[in-house]
Amino acid sequence: MTTPLLTVENLTLNYRTGGDPVQALRGVSLTARAGEVLGIVGESGCGKSTLAATLMGLAGTNAEITDGAVSFRGENILTAREETRRKLRGKHIAMVFQDPMTAFNPVLTIGAQLVDFQHNSGTPKRQRHSAARDMLDRVGIPDPDICMGRFPHELSGGMRQRAAIAAALLMQPEILIADEPTTALDVTMEAQIIHLLRNLQSDYDGAIIIVTHQLGVIAQLCDRVVVMYAGQVVEEADVDTLFHAPRHPYTKALIACDPASLSIKEKRLPTIGGRPPDLAHPPAGCAFADRCAQVEPICRTAAPPRVEIGPDHIAKCHEAWS
Ligand SMILES: Nc1ncnc2c1ncn2[C@@H]1O[C@H](COP(=O)(O)OP(=O)(O)OP(=O)(O)O)[C@@H](O)[C@H]1O
Ligand code: SF4
Ligand SMILES: [Mg+2]
Repeated sequence: MTTPLLTVENLTLNYRTGGDPVQALRGVSLTARAGEVLGIVGESGCGKSTLAATLMGLAGTNAEITDGAVSFRGENILTAREETRRKLRGKHIAMVFQDPMTAFNPVLTIGAQLVDFQHNSGTPKRQRHSAARDMLDRVGIPDPDICMGRFPHELSGGMRQRAAIAAALLMQPEILIADEPTTALDVTMEAQIIHLLRNLQSDYDGAIIIVTHQLGVIAQLCDRVVVMYAGQVVEEADVDTLFHAPRHPYTKALIACDPASLSIKEKRLPTIGGRPPDLAHPPAGCAFADRCAQVEPICRTAAPPRVEIGPDHIAKCHEAWS
C-alpha cells in the first residue's frame, strides 16, 4: 500500500447563510496516496467542490469548519498559519477548476501568466519562459509558441483547459486536484482531456484527485473512488470493486443510471427518484432513506454505521453487510 500524502479526518463544514447553516460536509474522512488517482463522485450539491476547495485551504468566507483535520504530510492545513497554507498551495497542492477561465487573468497573455505562476521557483525568466512553453507542448497544445502570445479568450474551451492543467503542473505539485475538469467541454474535448490526464498519471508520482459527477470519467481515470452523498462519504473502494461489487444502495443506483452501463435497447434513461435532502436540515437517520429501495425502519432513526467490507472497501449503510 502506498503512503498517504493527504489525510482528511472527520471534516465537518457549515456554510453560514441568512437562515440555518448549510451542513455541506458532515464528517468526511479519506486519504489520497502517492502515485494514485482518487475519484470523488456524487450528484450535484453533495459537497464535492466544497471538499476540493477545503483541501486547498480555500473554503469560502462564509464557511465554518467545525471539526476535523486535513493533513498534508502530517501537517494540519486547517490550523497552519496563512503563510504556510499559501506555500502549500503555491508549491505542493494545485487545482484545476471546472471553468478554465477562472485560472487566468483575462487581460494578460497565457505566456505571461505561465511565467508569472513560477515566480517562486527562483529560476531566471528566460528559463521560466521555456518551462512554460515545454509544459504547453506536454499537455498537447499544437503550437505552444503561438499559444504563449494568446489571451485566454482567444483559446477554445479544450485548449484553455489544457493551459490550466499546464499552469497547475508548472508548480510541480505533489497533489493535483481537478474539479470537474471535463464538464464544461464537448464530448470530443472531454475524451482528449481524459486521455491527457491518463498520460500524465503514468509519469507522475504525486496524487491526482478528480472530482466529477460522471461515473464514466471515474471509470476511465481512477484507481480508487470515494462516493459522496449529502455531505458524507457513503462508499469507498478501488475502481473495479466499485463498479462490479458496490455495496451502498446509492452507488448501485448511480451505476444503474449511468448511460454507459445501459443496454443500447434501453430507450429511457433511468434517474434516481427523489432528491437529495436539504443540507440545512439533514434527516436524523440515513440521508438516502427517502430514495432507497432497501430502506428499513432503523434507517429513519439511526445514523448508518461505517462498515468495513474488505481491505480498502467501506460503505456507510445499515444493510451493507448483506
Ligand atoms: N458559498 C456557499 N454558501 C452557502 N451554501 C453553499 C455555498 N457553496 C455551496 N453551498 C451549498 O453546499 C452544498 C454543497 O455544494 P458543493 O458546491 O460543494 O456541491 P457539489 O457536489 O460540488 O455540486 P456540483 O456537482 O453541482 O458542483 C450545496 O447544498 C450547496 O448549495
Ligand atoms: S442505511 Fe438504509 S436507507 Fe440508507 S442506504 Fe442503507 S439501506 Fe438504504
Ligand atoms: Mg461542484
